[in-house]
Amino acid sequence: MNQKAGLKVLGTGSALPEKVVTNNDLKQFMDTSDEWITERTGIKERRTGGTTSGLALEAARAAIADADIDQSTIEQVVLATTTPDYLCPGTAPLVAAELGLTCGAFDVQAACSGWVYGLVSASGLLLQGANRVLLIGSETLDQITDYSDRGTGILFGNGAGAVVLERDETCSGELLSWDLGSNGNLVNILHAEHGKNFSMDGREVFRQAVTVIQQTAKKTMDQAGVNADDIALVVPHQANIRIVDLAWRKLGFSLDKTAMVLEKTGNTSAASIPLALDEANKAGRISDGDLVLFIGFGAGMTWASALVRWSTEK
Ligand code: ACO
Repeated sequence: MNQKAGLKVLGTGSALPEKVVTNNDLKQFMDTSDEWITERTGIKERRTGGTTSGLALEAARAAIADADIDQSTIEQVVLATTTPDYLCPGTAPLVAAELGLTCGAFDVQAACSGWVYGLVSASGLLLQGANRVLLIGSETLDQITDYSDRGTGILFGNGAGAVVLERDETCSGELLSWDLGSNGNLVNILHAEHGKNFSMDGREVFRQAVTVIQQTAKKTMDQAGVNADDIALVVPHQANIRIVDLAWRKLGFSLDKTAMVLEKTGNTSAASIPLALDEANKAGRISDGDLVLFIGFGAGMTWASALVRWSTEK
């Protein structure tokens, strides 16, 4: 099924708005505590403010600078978001225009799985002949979060992450295997209606998330014929540390080999995986040849995993 395109990661970048909202800040107007939120979610603070296109642009510029390329060489822009600036048009064309680009630019809406859906789509564009793709995840979840509701208001925040991908048949990097899935019958456990905030059955989302993470990760590892020990870094969607803990116990992953930014960002939906990836990359936690597993899950429900052999060879 998988043709090899040769996938090189030229650069990564991220952006967070300036305003920090700590658990103690939430306590001022919500019946909660820092202890409860930290213990039940792993979140200490989140960011609010900014716009989805503005944060996306900042993350994209950081990734382009890291890649050290002329931005006019980008041939496609793929942007995953649940919170676009407009209902129509998408946010990707706005970001492309700010970068001086008139190339293909489209949004992916698969909630918190969106960036991994975008990664698989971007890989398809590279296989079809595109040379360079800018892949972004960006969210302003404060637009659809009721911060007075302790069931959801403690979880969500804003941010963006981006990568520049290049097709290079001579490099060792590639998308080895992937799995994308959905169950639209579960729309009611997590959704936001037009003009309204998130509505969520937290316990059910938790339960479903732990199950689908295991299933999708296993499927993607099996396809590539690898096991947990072969993987250098797992970059999961950052929703709740207890979801990761439970799934990891079953999958045999360790937190040492996991990229986490949840404590500082909260759940940033489609932005959470590229945010965690950028931090791990800048910290030197990924080397060429490493196997990196991305795992997303979210409203829909949707789930997604992708296994990449990392290459930055310049
Ligand atoms: N502060 C203090 N107490 C609280 C809070 C709070 N913020 N929220 C709930 N409680 C109370 C409840 O009222 C309940 O009290 P009771 O026992 O007296 O009735 C008790 O704490 C336990 O409530 P639960 O809802 O069972 O708490 P749980 O441990 O399930 O944690 C949470 C709730 C954090 C929402 C958890 O269910 C969760 O993380 N679920 C997954 C949510 C998620 O990941 N969503 C995003 C998915 S990705 C996407 O697509 C956006």
